[in-house]
Amino acid sequence: MTDDNRLLAASFGGVAGIYERTRPDYPAAAVAWLTGEHPRRVLDLAAGTGKLTRSLVAAGHDVVAVDPSEPMLVQLRAALPGVDARVGSAEAVPLADASIDVVTVAQAFHWFDPAAAPPEIARVLRPGGRLGLVWNMPDTSTPWTDELWRAINANEPRTVERPELPEPFEPMESRTFTHSQRLDRDGLLGLVSSRSYVAVLAPAERDRLLVRVGALYDRVAGTDGLTMPYVTHCFRSNRS
Ligand SMILES: C[S@@+](CC[C@H](N)C(=O)[O-])C[C@H]1O[C@@H](n2cnc3c(N)ncnc32)[C@H](O)[C@@H]1O
Repeated sequence: MTDDNRLLAASFGGVAGIYERTRPDYPAAAVAWLTGEHPRRVLDLAAGTGKLTRSLVAAGHDVVAVDPSEPMLVQLRAALPGVDARVGSAEAVPLADASIDVVTVAQAFHWFDPAAAPPEIARVLRPGGRLGLVWNMPDTSTPWTDELWRAINANEPRTVERPELPEPFEPMESRTFTHSQRLDRDGLLGLVSSRSYVAVLAPAERDRLLVRVGALYDRVAGTDGLTMPYVTHCFRSNRS
């Protein structure tokens, strides 16, 4: 991982509160596709404030949450006091070998060390267990969403490449789901502020971007806010 990526990956702790208030959750159909219909022992890795963890608990799974950021876990524990939430990383998971049926990773697999994380995830999965990856990506097919995401970071990828996993992972299956989120003006500004790319900008540059985004909101939102569209990209692979 480059130093820039490390800085971006570590940026979430500073924006944990805004992140929790403004980032979208995940469609229930996507969660069911990733984990299966029956309750399991699930590790939500890079759980952050618990956006996906909440849906996993609601689906009846026995969930343990792991994330390197204590500020993110503070939000998770407040929302989900019954969940075992531990500090740890994808490269050093604080769990026993073969103790987990499903590992989920939402919006975070790209932050992991590509050499160290897959064997560590395979270690905690029981044989026949599953790894499920999910990303909510901006739907940039309308003029205003295209303008918004270009303003935030013109270089940010708009789709997700199928991740490559070594053995003992089997070939990945993929599926997309549509999703959306209602936002008011503060919600949109918070969503933008919590992007890792924006969180590390110099204050003056961040302020200029937020003025632009506020003006865009005023142009496109109705009196009851706006609907932000997403495409939810999902991947799953069993461990042999
Ligand atoms: C965009 S947030 C996603 C949080 C949550 N899964 C969600 O969907 O809202 C990315 C998370 O990845 C975590 N993270 C960054 N590097 C990590 C690593 N090497 N291992 C585990 N988690 C990591 C960050 O602390 C942050 O909570």
